[in-house]
Amino acid sequence: MEMEMEMEMEMEMEMEMEMEMMEMEMEMEMEMEMEMEMEMDGGVISRRLYGPIWKSTFGHYRNINIGSPVVLEQLLRQEGKYPMRSDMALWKEHRDTRRLPYGPFTEEGERWYRLRQVLNKRLLKPSEALLYADAIGEVVSDLMVRLREERSRSPSGVLVGDVANLLYRFALEGISYILFETRIGCLKQQVPAETQRFIDSINLMFKNSIFATVLPRWSRKVLPFWDRYLDSWDTIFAFGKTLIDRKMKELEGQVERGTEVSGYLSYLLASGTLSLDEVYGSVAELLLAGVDTTSNTLSWALYHLSRDPEIQETLYQELKAVVPADRFPAAEDIPKLPMLRAIIKETLRVYPVVPTNARVFYEKDIVIGDYLFPKNTLFVLAHYAMSHDETYFPEPERFLPQRWLRGHGSPHHPFSSIPFGYGVRACVGRRIAELEMHLALARMIQAFEVRPDPRGVEVTSVSRIVLVADKPINLEFIARPGAP
Ligand code: HEM
Repeated sequence: MEMEMEMEMEMEMEMEMEMEMMEMEMEMEMEMEMEMEMEMDGGVISRRLYGPIWKSTFGHYRNINIGSPVVLEQLLRQEGKYPMRSDMALWKEHRDTRRLPYGPFTEEGERWYRLRQVLNKRLLKPSEALLYADAIGEVVSDLMVRLREERSRSPSGVLVGDVANLLYRFALEGISYILFETRIGCLKQQVPAETQRFIDSINLMFKNSIFATVLPRWSRKVLPFWDRYLDSWDTIFAFGKTLIDRKMKELEGQVERGTEVSGYLSYLLASGTLSLDEVYGSVAELLLAGVDTTSNTLSWALYHLSRDPEIQETLYQELKAVVPADRFPAAEDIPKLPMLRAIIKETLRVYPVVPTNARVFYEKDIVIGDYLFPKNTLFVLAHYAMSHDETYFPEPERFLPQRWLRGHGSPHHPFSSIPFGYGVRACVGRRIAELEMHLALARMIQAFEVRPDPRGVEVTSVSRIVLVADKPINLEFIARPGAP
């Protein structure tokens, strides 16, 4: 009897502790969301209040914020051969704890340079990205099938709920197909369990990394966030490793049979410059970078097109004039579609998916105007604030793709909207991201007229490491007569 009571009491205490922990987690999540949302606004408001440069803190980081393209240019032009974004301490701690090599985000100095030289090949130039046009086209076709199925399942027969989720699945399928030369089933009606686990781990890793940045180190032993953070990275790496190992086996067979190997992963594995471990490290980081970025940008583009029928009609007419009605838009059409390209540029101006970036100059002091910043200063590049600055973009809150068209736009500073970053450390996936976004958007607008959610839901952006919508974006897709 006594034992039973003791056990009951223990269970009650455990439940209470769990409840307390959950409450604390929820409180912290809300606080952090508020802090990050304030930061997001703060970029714009701080620039107005303090001018082109201001100080701030985040967790234990002390930042110098840059909010003017003129100052940003002065800063970035002082970059050396091995620019460094930030110390990436948290990501490195996972790699160090698990004895894994660094990838393009985490690596530094000479070793980063060597890694980028290998990764850049077959990715960085527009002509190299074209190697993947057929693969992307295949994934876009599957996106269209999924889109049609989703809309036909809605009560109105035309509404697609939470387009960002669908586009996330498209982007993950696309980047996986490019990297692993393997389809992973994200656009099937039911996402395979291991793929879903991987998707969930990315979200968990980002969420827990915020906790880990803000909380003191001692709390790692008593609170669950740090272990969850490490576990989610492990799942991300395990997912990549399984697919790489599978490819390795295939390649061995192909080499034995004397078949020529092609594709990005085959190239990396056959390059002879990277060890298998280095390939694991790089592919995990490439995979991570290539999903939320393209999917959120595409979601915002569709959202604005749905709210601006005139711009959408201009794009549709442009597509009709360039792409015959009996075929789909292809990579070679893109140079002839200036409005399509302008829409993506304007989307990335209004919603720079990486709203703030960073640079640390560890080899030298930095001079900007009359100010000297000692080496190792952490500069936060407030891209969101800059691309919303009316000095460079009149009516900055309006979605006006025309600004980017030759002969239409007002002149803007070349550093005022640089959504893919700058210099040798800029985004390695830029060309494939653009190709994916151009081909997917062109196909959707060729087939459908996109209209807003009839319930009139207003969506705004919030920063959760990348810039995302604060609520699901639901859109109507009305079939265009005679579309292929
Ligand atoms: C809309 C799509 C995308 C946007 C807006 C974007 C933006 C960026 C930005 C702003 C950076 C930092 C650059 C700098 O510090 O100067 C970056 C880095 C990076 N991106 Fe992207 N990205 C996109 C898609 C992709 C894709 C599809 C991939 C995968 C192939 C990718 C892979 C990377 C990698 C690996 C880095 C780190 C490069 C390094 O540190 O050397 N990104 N991206």
